[in-house]
Amino acid sequence: MLKIFKPCDFHVHLREGSLSQFVLKENNKHFQKILVMPNLENPLTNAELLLKYRNKILKMNKSSEVLFTIYLNNNCSMRDLNYMRKNNLFFAAKLYPLNATTNSGSGVSDIKKMAKYFSFLEGHNIPLCIHGEHVHENDDPYEREKKFLDLELSWIIKNFKSLKITLEHITTKDSVSFVKSNKNISATITTHHLLENTHTFLGGNLRPELFCKPIIKSSIHQEALQKVALSGSSKFFFGSDSAPHLKSRKYAPACCAGVYSTKYSISNIIELFWINKKTSNLNKFLTLNGCKHYGLKYDNKSYKYKRIKNFKFQKYSKFQNDHLINYNYFKNFWTEV
Ligand code: NCD
Ligand code: ZN
Repeated sequence: MLKIFKPCDFHVHLREGSLSQFVLKENNKHFQKILVMPNLENPLTNAELLLKYRNKILKMNKSSEVLFTIYLNNNCSMRDLNYMRKNNLFFAAKLYPLNATTNSGSGVSDIKKMAKYFSFLEGHNIPLCIHGEHVHENDDPYEREKKFLDLELSWIIKNFKSLKITLEHITTKDSVSFVKSNKNISATITTHHLLENTHTFLGGNLRPELFCKPIIKSSIHQEALQKVALSGSSKFFFGSDSAPHLKSRKYAPACCAGVYSTKYSISNIIELFWINKKTSNLNKFLTLNGCKHYGLKYDNKSYKYKRIKNFKFQKYSKFQNDHLINYNYFKNFWTEV
């Protein structure tokens, strides 16, 4: 048995329509706060789209505090952004490099053209959440994250010194060092990047359910992520990047990128900290560090979790006439009591 604050998930994809209802319900069980990503099929690039989406989600939401993001690109209108800011419609802006991941076809191909938007965010103290991958023809996908640090993130940091940045779902030791050694930047880490590596992903049969962007890296990188997460270091916190795709689209010739982890993510994180005797840092990783970075108040009531050994995990959740594939790693299950 252990007691922790209700966790926050600072990076989640709720999707749209009936799928969002399904996914939000699962999120409500586990999280006091969720930061919702804007990469819908028709991305949330303006007030009209954001308002519509926001209203639908908030109507369905039962218990979590839902924080919204806007999909930033060079077609965003400054007037619109100001309107949304004044009306508190979004909490953070999200930057996707063009074609880096699912629904990033409206992303940004040249970050230098984004300067006026970065100034706007910096001036109003609005966080910028970044999918940190440099995408270029014929480049090795395993190098994308490192290249982004060198070619793009360094430039942003140098030119927008007070901009509050979240480097999302980091996967490399290079990102760990980068975040540690720069000001005003923190990073989220997912469950699957903490628990998997290239060996578990593709060392045996290929596991499409683990295919995501950024792609899962080798154990050297995995160890660096585990070390920094377990240490409770204040610049690193949990963002599941839980990204549901239908099973028929995952076990398919063109498998889409995204791991759906919401159902068991907290159980997996608790077990990881438990076996490493670091449960005293769970609140930091799951609640405090993220809330501190974003300047958010949090519910500091403690909730009890118990450990069930050799639990029978549900591999798939039925959704309409298809399924979602639940990500799970450990044999033991931690559940709220
Ligand atoms: C995410 C998705 O499916 O929306 N996919 C992923 O592989 N992580 C998008 C993202 O966060 O990159
Ligand atoms: Zn994501």
